[in-house]
Amino acid sequence: MKALVIYYSRTGNTKIAGEAIARELGCDVEEIFDTVNRSGPIGWFMAGRQASGKMLTKLQPLKKDLAGYDIVIIGTPVWAYTMSTPVRTLLAENKDKIKKVAFFLTMGGRGDATTFQGMEEVCGKKPVATLALLTKNVKNGTYVEAIKKFAGSLKA
Ligand SMILES: Cc1cc2nc3c(=O)[nH]c(=O)nc-3n(C[C@H](O)[C@H](O)[C@H](O)COP(=O)(O)O)c2cc1C
Repeated sequence: MKALVIYYSRTGNTKIAGEAIARELGCDVEEIFDTVNRSGPIGWFMAGRQASGKMLTKLQPLKKDLAGYDIVIIGTPVWAYTMSTPVRTLLAENKDKIKKVAFFLTMGGRGDATTFQGMEEVCGKKPVATLALLTKNVKNGTYVEAIKKFAGSLKA
């Protein structure tokens, strides 16, 4: 099964998770880049507003074609109890290319269920698996077992 891990990460946590999932699966991986600068306090504030307003952004062009994969594994940080604006945009623009989908996220503490539900709605597909990680577990390295289990369920 040809798999792609694709993720957005503002401050690196979702990147750590995404790269680890791709390593575990031995599959392609791509980081999504926004054209909007989201650094600093203003970036943080705008991110929250745009996420809760379900707004879209302009992404930098993707390198991979999602239609070329049997499964696409999509990762986002939780922003204001929902997916990040770049991931909402990715899903909205590519949903027709996605055959099978799985989701993962990182979060400070709350909003995984609403985020997964929102991703499913925008994508129009039920994920075959989901993984929610706490930022603190990503930072202290105790996320590895969860990633192995998630990747294992995708290989099965
Ligand atoms: C604008 C904004 C809103 C956030 N809202 C939430 C939230 O509703 N719930 C939560 O648990 N964490 C929230 N967080 C924390 C991030 O989800 C968390 O730090 C995540 O690991 C960041 O991932 P990244 O490093 O890949 O960008 C928010 C962060 C930002 C920037």
